[in-house]
Amino acid sequence: MILTGKAKIAGVIGWPISHSLSPRLHGFWLDEYGIDGAYIPIAVSPENVTEVIRSLPKMGIAGINVTVPHKEAAFRAVDEADAVAQSMGAVNTIVVGADGKLTGSNTDGFGFMAHLGATVPGWTAGPVTVLGAGGAARGICRALIDAAVPEIQITNRTRARAETLADEFGDRVVVRDWDERNAALEGASLLVNTTTLGMAGADDLEIDLAALPTAAPVYDIVYTPRITPLLAQAGARGNPVIEGLGMLLHQARPGFAAWFGVEPEVTPALRDFVLESLA
Ligand code: ATR
Repeated sequence: MILTGKAKIAGVIGWPISHSLSPRLHGFWLDEYGIDGAYIPIAVSPENVTEVIRSLPKMGIAGINVTVPHKEAAFRAVDEADAVAQSMGAVNTIVVGADGKLTGSNTDGFGFMAHLGATVPGWTAGPVTVLGAGGAARGICRALIDAAVPEIQITNRTRARAETLADEFGDRVVVRDWDERNAALEGASLLVNTTTLGMAGADDLEIDLAALPTAAPVYDIVYTPRITPLLAQAGARGNPVIEGLGMLLHQARPGFAAWFGVEPEVTPALRDFVLESLA
């Protein structure tokens, strides 16, 4: 990578930041499209996050991604947030305008839907069953509601968190007990795991897919391992499987396009390049 004095600079802030895959992912695209630009990891501690974000225009930075634990602080620090970020109270992408204005958005839901559409192009919005009720579930439910799904059944170990989401999203969200998760699969047109269960080092996700229609895609947002036990079970019975890494790749597209002026593509080569670092 050789930069000129005109290079555009973007990056990702988090604490810690060393685990982030985003520099590798954006770096691949910068190289692929021959862009005079850089995307760097920036470790920012919680006490400095607002000051760092407010300083971006002064440093001539094009924008940043925001990762754990700064997404809520970023929402408060930007000048303007788009509708999705407002409904989530969390920002993962900041664009610095020509006038220095900071605009925040949340692209997790976009990434979720874009990867679903790319993997199962014929999917039409039907009832969805969501496992988990954390921050990831909130973004995904928002996107599913916006995509006009008729019903979302949410089941979470801590029922109260699922009820909070149901209160937020209205009548289309129905809460089921965690113990009822197998029965909640009946009639679903899509199953999404938003919990950390099944991740390398975490507990197993104990679920029996027998009641799930075989046409329903199974989407796991866990991407280490690439094929989780849930996806293996789904694939073995003939359900379409949707790997979690794709959501991460797709959610990066809007930021890259805004900062560097090229609409980037999610390709198998990109996926393999990012996977290499997970191996
Ligand atoms: P994120 O914001 O990334 O979604 P999170 O808020 O920690 O992360 O949510 C993790 C999800 O995994 C939650 O739904 C959590 O359930 P609780 O709300 O009951 O904590 C779920 N989860 C984590 N470990 C679990 C376990 N051992 N059994 C069942 N669910 C689990």
